[in-house]
Amino acid sequence: MNGNNTVKVIAVSGGKGGIGKSNVSVNLAVGLAKLGRSVMLLDADLGMANIDIMLGIQPEYDLQHVISGQCTLEEVIFDGPFGIKVIPASTGIGKMADLSVEEQGNIIRAFDDIPLDIDVLIIDTAAGISNSVINFTKSAQEIFVVVCDEPASITDAYSLIKVLNVEHGIKSFQILPNMVKDSDHGKKLFRKLVNVTDIYLDVSLGLLGSIPMDEKLRAAVRNQSAVVEAYPHCAASIAFQQVVKRVDETPAPASSTGYMQFFIEKIARGDSSSRESAK
Ligand SMILES: Nc1ncnc2c1ncn2[C@@H]1O[C@H](COP(=O)(O)OP(=O)(O)O)[C@@H](O)[C@H]1O
Ligand SMILES: [Mg+2]
Repeated sequence: MNGNNTVKVIAVSGGKGGIGKSNVSVNLAVGLAKLGRSVMLLDADLGMANIDIMLGIQPEYDLQHVISGQCTLEEVIFDGPFGIKVIPASTGIGKMADLSVEEQGNIIRAFDDIPLDIDVLIIDTAAGISNSVINFTKSAQEIFVVVCDEPASITDAYSLIKVLNVEHGIKSFQILPNMVKDSDHGKKLFRKLVNVTDIYLDVSLGLLGSIPMDEKLRAAVRNQSAVVEAYPHCAASIAFQQVVKRVDETPAPASSTGYMQFFIEKIARGDSSSRESAK
């Protein structure tokens, strides 16, 4: 843990697949690391892990080996660009809720023993609103909802927010429009979502910024690198840098020691009741 014993935990979610959650996670992680923050990136897409592929790394061990007790979390962490610490997932872990008590104990202990100074933990979640996605997402202090201007993405973002709000009492969400034409387009997309949530839900949505559609981002994906590293001056990278700045300026909650353990226990238990007390 860092000097203040606080770590900002951010979940990147959005409901639909292919809308840019993993790219947002990776580029926020790299962007924050470029500012000198100590960042950990957890690949929580247990069904289709791909952070390792995006960063061009082939990890020998992953979260699965930690859960089964074959190795420690430290042994699976690999160093990404600018020193980000990446915890890779593997396919086939299944729902976190299906873990045995012993496996849950393994993962909780694994996180508690991390001897690193971490300022920010970014969790890249899977598509959909399965228990596993909801558990990871609701355990974070900040929830970023990625959305793009397609009916299915807007509907899925709404469904995600609705489940988190109605079933888990979460009220605050940060919206990040992706693959938009420009910031006006991002604002319009944000309004579309707010217009629906305002009618049906008791939530407060914030607009985090917006990321334009950018061919350079695709080129970076093909080259297995983060766009903010490969093309720092392209439109998407500039937009990411603005989002990173906002994220960095938002203070971490004044929570106590052992937040990481607290967080991971909640994931493993699927417990929603203690979220507010984490703040
Ligand atoms: N801002 C963007 N501009 C251009 N293409 C994008 C952008 N964001 C995402 N993409 C494309 O969408 C694909 C899926 O993105 P990814 O981050 O893997 O989505 P998810 O994690 O939501 O499934 C990327 O490989 C890339 O080709
Ligand atoms: Mg993904």
